[in-house]
Order: sequence, then structure tokens, then C-alpha cells
Amino acid sequence: MPILFNEIDNTITLTTKNSSYQMKIDKYGYLLHTYYGAPIESDMSYLIRGFDRGFSGNPYVAGNDRTYSLDQLPLEYPVEGNGDFRLTALSVKEAGVSGLDLLYKTHRIEKGKYSLKGLPTVQDQETVTLSVVLEDKAKGVEVELKYSVIEDTDTITRAAIIKNVGEGEIILQNAASVSLDFLYGDFNLIHFQGRHAHEREKVVTPITYADFSIGSRRGTSSHQHNPFVIIADKETTEDTGSCTALMLLYSGSFAFRCAKDQYDQTRAVMGVLDERFDYSLLKGEEFVTPECAISFSLNGFSTLSHNSHKLVREHITHGPWALKRRPILINNWEATYFDFNKEKLIKIAKQAKELGVEMLVLDDGWFGHRWDDNRGLGDWFVNEEKLGGTLSSLVEEVNEMGLKFGLWIEPEMVNEDSLLYKEHPEFAFTLPGHKPIRSRNQLVLDFSQTKVVEYIFNMISKVIDSAHIEYIKMDMNRSLADVCSQDCSQGKVLYKYTLGVYDFLQRLLNRYPNLLIEGCSGGGGRFDAGMLYYTPQIWTSDNTDAIERTLIQYGTSFAYPISSMGSHVSAVPNHQTGRITPLNTRSVVAMVGSFGYELDLNKLSIEEKDEVKKQTDSFKELYEVIHNGLYYRLTDPTVNKEFVSYLNVTTDKKEALLSIVTLSTQGNPLNKYVRLKGLEEDINYYNSFDKKVYKGSSLMHGGILLPYESGEYNAYQMHFKAVN
Ligand code: DGJ
Repeated sequence: MPILFNEIDNTITLTTKNSSYQMKIDKYGYLLHTYYGAPIESDMSYLIRGFDRGFSGNPYVAGNDRTYSLDQLPLEYPVEGNGDFRLTALSVKEAGVSGLDLLYKTHRIEKGKYSLKGLPTVQDQETVTLSVVLEDKAKGVEVELKYSVIEDTDTITRAAIIKNVGEGEIILQNAASVSLDFLYGDFNLIHFQGRHAHEREKVVTPITYADFSIGSRRGTSSHQHNPFVIIADKETTEDTGSCTALMLLYSGSFAFRCAKDQYDQTRAVMGVLDERFDYSLLKGEEFVTPECAISFSLNGFSTLSHNSHKLVREHITHGPWALKRRPILINNWEATYFDFNKEKLIKIAKQAKELGVEMLVLDDGWFGHRWDDNRGLGDWFVNEEKLGGTLSSLVEEVNEMGLKFGLWIEPEMVNEDSLLYKEHPEFAFTLPGHKPIRSRNQLVLDFSQTKVVEYIFNMISKVIDSAHIEYIKMDMNRSLADVCSQDCSQGKVLYKYTLGVYDFLQRLLNRYPNLLIEGCSGGGGRFDAGMLYYTPQIWTSDNTDAIERTLIQYGTSFAYPISSMGSHVSAVPNHQTGRITPLNTRSVVAMVGSFGYELDLNKLSIEEKDEVKKQTDSFKELYEVIHNGLYYRLTDPTVNKEFVSYLNVTTDKKEALLSIVTLSTQGNPLNKYVRLKGLEEDINYYNSFDKKVYKGSSLMHGGILLPYESGEYNAYQMHFKAVN
């Protein structure tokens, strides 16, 4: 049984293949967090010792026991106002007074995985759910903590439902999904910071006595920080040491906070952002937090990432595309921007088809009078003048060539210069008495209102109904300001907005169950596990420079699977950096992702076209190892600035793809080596690159000598196959 209640010592232990998580209802009814780590079987509360410590107060129920203090105990769901002065997960105000004291009421263990109303969750038919109810009788508040165990990925999912069971209104000022206490240890926090076109750069920050916080105030999970973090022992490496990941299934504003306390214990709290969050609950109402998936690895970051990739692919992303090979696509954005017509698109499609591409994606500019990015958003009807006819006639022509067809949309936005805005200015967020903040000259539609979601969905579904559309790229190109809605108080809007986005996506999938949706927010501004529930792939970054992409994809790979990273070969000089990289390098980088092209292939030389044909053939051949294999980071490009190397290995260890991208070039260079991972020691592997056979043990312990050619940014792929 993955969740066990022990009546003798009042512990509840959750067990995955390689981890245990334990809580204990203590003698006064407080829910302690007693353990999270490698598997254990007994009551771990022996590790906890109270002490009569100055300025750490004692709950009344403890009588004269001055050693019992919530300020020093590890707690499962710490709240503000009961003498715990550390970071807390929940803060509730009633009639202007905040403060809460939660005690155990009941718990139950049931078959099946819980779901959360309106929110994406991890799915698992085989699992069980633990619900622990805590209460503050005086305040009329109940908290139901939810847990499930995803055994095969060493994951435990958590969420909380906060209920007003009293008479009056209560206001939630903070309601986190998860809190984790570590009794002792010295940790690093690994988080992923960035900006537009430079997402998810890995940062290592020691956890100290200062409250440390990252998150997003932008209404989306953001380019700046990612709702995925790792808390690791200082010595943890890719292959050794303990680490714990927290992955929030949420795409809106969020907060992660952590700190070491005065007694050297560490606490981490993660959930929706508590700023501008005054969530009112009337009698009988409840608030559901997003889900957080936590996982533990005793064997370093690689294992943690493998579990996380499996969790996303097999338990989060749903629908037919989760595990299926996605078509190699050609997207016209960097090929034409807004300057396209039917003839250009057909020409691009024809050439792409000849070179092995499988789908044409028509990006921004096909609707309303969207001749540039200052106008037209919201007018979701086809610009037939630009397309030289109906959308369906274009799609038919593309389909006849043997290509699928995909379409770009940005449903959450409106330009003031649009028919939609003229008819429904009230659909856009604005602060009363203020002129709105513009960004890319567009305003944000109030998706916290179902009627707005419905209105836009109806418009867009008419377009999708009109032609054979098999893929949608759903974009979102600004941060939310002026957050004020007509139908809910300001403190609820950001949360409800995110649920509105999920509602839109779910409507799309309900109506078009076979549709492949690629998420996008100016590239990777909303690259999170919440979106991945609906969209199996996300455009990783607006930065298509192969060299910069190695860093972005490296950071992204800690949490998210290779199949989730939209990744394209684009033209040189690169449109974002001006850098010139070899075509081969661009494909070596893009191929380890959901592969595609983003340039006019007609403009390539005959030799280059031949090369592209080889690339698409090769991706089809290598797909199994790239998307369904295990991914190993062999170098850390935040440290090693000379070359980056990564490896994909099939789960049966019979095949591997080693990729190497040169980042800098020197005269009289040193020899460079990498050691492979995850192979079988005793198997002989044939290397397609030098046509030699190597023993698995040699490749893993001795490594491989990297090729050297003069020139900049060369890249290499070595395909290893088991031979007898
Ligand atoms: C931002 C996206 O990331 C780009 O790929 C492109 O779709 C543009 N938006 C279109 O406006």
C-alpha cells in the first residue's frame, strides 16, 4: 500500500519506489512533517527534539511544557498566527483579524487520484489519495490536504482545499499548495531565471537565513522565473546525492519562498502568489490551490529529471499526442513575419514537403486587418484578401501536397484597433479612471470571466471548424497589468484568469480531441507543467540562435521532457543575435526537441537542401531515442563555455545519440573528452560517426575523444547502436 496509516504511532507514510514521505498527528493534534527522503519504515519523529527556547512560544494546549513550540517543530502545513514565526503556507483574515490555528480533524485514504476543480492535475488510475482534514473551529476554517503517490516516478502530489465552514466572510491572504520542512542540512536552491528570449538559465543559490523568494507577478508563470525548483544537498551532482524537486502545475503568478530558520531548519513554501491575493470566501465556499508535484532522488539531478520527464509525459500531458511522434513542422514566422500571401505560403510548403517536413504552421497575421503587430487581435475571422481565398482552400492545397496544416492564435488579447474592442471594450482589463498599460500595443482580455472565454472560443472555433486544422499554436504576448475585473474582486482575478485560460484550452480539446496544441508565450514565457497538461509541446524561446538555445534547453531539461520543447532550425544570420552557425549545428540543437524549421527553405543552396533532407530523415530515424529515451546532461554550459554535450539513451540501452556543440574555438586546442552515461557496460556499441565499435564500459568510464575541426560553432552527432 503506497499510503499507510499506523494507528499505534499515528504516522501516515507515503511510499514511492525510492522515497518515503511521512507525517504524524502528534499528542496535541498538530500535524507534523516527520520525514521526506530515501525509503524508511518506522516513525521518524525520534529525530525531533523540543527545547525550552527563548522567544519561541508555546501553544496553550501544551500546558507548562515549554519545550513544545510550533516555532521549532517541522509542520506539514504551517499557518500564520499560532506562534510559528517562519514562512507560512496559509494566512486567513476574518473581520479584519488574521491568525489561525489548525488541528487534525480526520483523514481518509481512498482509491484513485483526486482532481481539482478547474485546474490541471497529475493523472494516475492506479494510485490512492490521502485527504487529511485540519480545522480551526473558532475561525470556522477547514483545510483539506490532498496527497497522491505516483510510484513509478518517485513523485508525491500535493494540494490544499481551504473551506469556510463558519458563518462570516473570511479572506485568504496566502494559500500555498505545499510547504516542506527539512530538520537539518545545508542546501542549495536550483532555480531557473531569465527574460524574454533568454529563458530558464540555471542558477544555484545557497539557502541561508534570509527569506529567499522567486516567482511571478505577471499573471503568467513568466520568462523571468519558472515554477520548478530543486532543493539539493550542497554536494549533489548529476549522478550522486539527494535532491528534491517542486513542480507547480500552474501557469499564473506564483511564489516560491525558502529560508533557514534560527535553529538551522529549512522551510520551503510554494503556491499562488500572495500579493494582490485577497481571496474572499463566503460561508460554504472554498479555494482550491494548484497542485504541486514533489519528487525525491538519492542519485542526483539526472534521476530527478528522468522522473520529472516521465511524470510530464505519462501522467500530466493528456490526449493522443502525449506520447506520439509530432509532425516535423515548418513555421512561416521567421520566414515571412507579416509579409505573406497564399503564393508565398504554398511555395514554402512545397519546398518543405520535398525536404521531408510534415506540417505547415501559419503563424501570426492571417486574420482581421492584422497587417502588423499593432492591430487586429481579437478579430478572429480569416483575412481572405491576404490569403487569396478561404482558409479551407489554402488548407486543402497544403493537405493535397501531403502536409498537415496548423494555425497560430492569441486568444487572450485584443488590440484597441480591432472590431472586437469597438464592440466590447469592457472585455479588456482596465483600472477605473486610468488609461490602460499597453504592451506590444495590445490589451489583455478578462479571461477571469467565463462569458469572455466563451465569446472568444466561439469565434475561434468557427475558424477551426471551417478548415482541416490539425494543430494550434496558442500564443500570449504580454504580462498582465490593470488587473481589475467587472465580476470579481481584484484579489481573485489573477487566479480566475489562469483558470479561464485552462477553461479555453479544455474547450478546445473537448471539441477537437485530436488537435495538437503547442503552447507559447513570446517563446517560453509560460513554460510550465500546468500548460503541459493541455499542450504536449511549448515553443521554448523566441530565441532560435542555436548557441543560445543550448543554454535555454539545458535549463529547461531539468524539469521538462525533450518532447515538450518546441525547437526549430532558423536562418542565418540569426534574427535575434546576428550569429552565423552551420546548418548542421542548428539541426543538432533543434533535433533534441519537438523538431521543426522556421525559415524559407527555398532560399537555401542545393547542398543545404540536401542537408535538410538528411536532417528530416535522420530525425525520423532518431525519434525513438530522442523522445522516448532518457536524457543525460553531460556538461553544464553555465560552467563549461567551450562545448556543450548531451546524450539520449533508449530505455533498453541498445541505442544512444550523443550530441556535441562547440561553443568557443581556440588555436592549438586541448583534446576534449566526455564520458557517456546510462549504457550497458558489457554491450559493444557501433558509433556511426567514426564507424568504430566501443565497449559500453569504455564509453562510460574512459569516455570519447571529441572531434576537432577548425571553424566556429561546429556540432557533431554520434549515433551508437548495440552490436553483437
Ligand atoms: C511570439 C511567438 O513566440 C513567435 O513565435 C510568433 O508566433 C510571434 N509571437 C507572432 O506574433
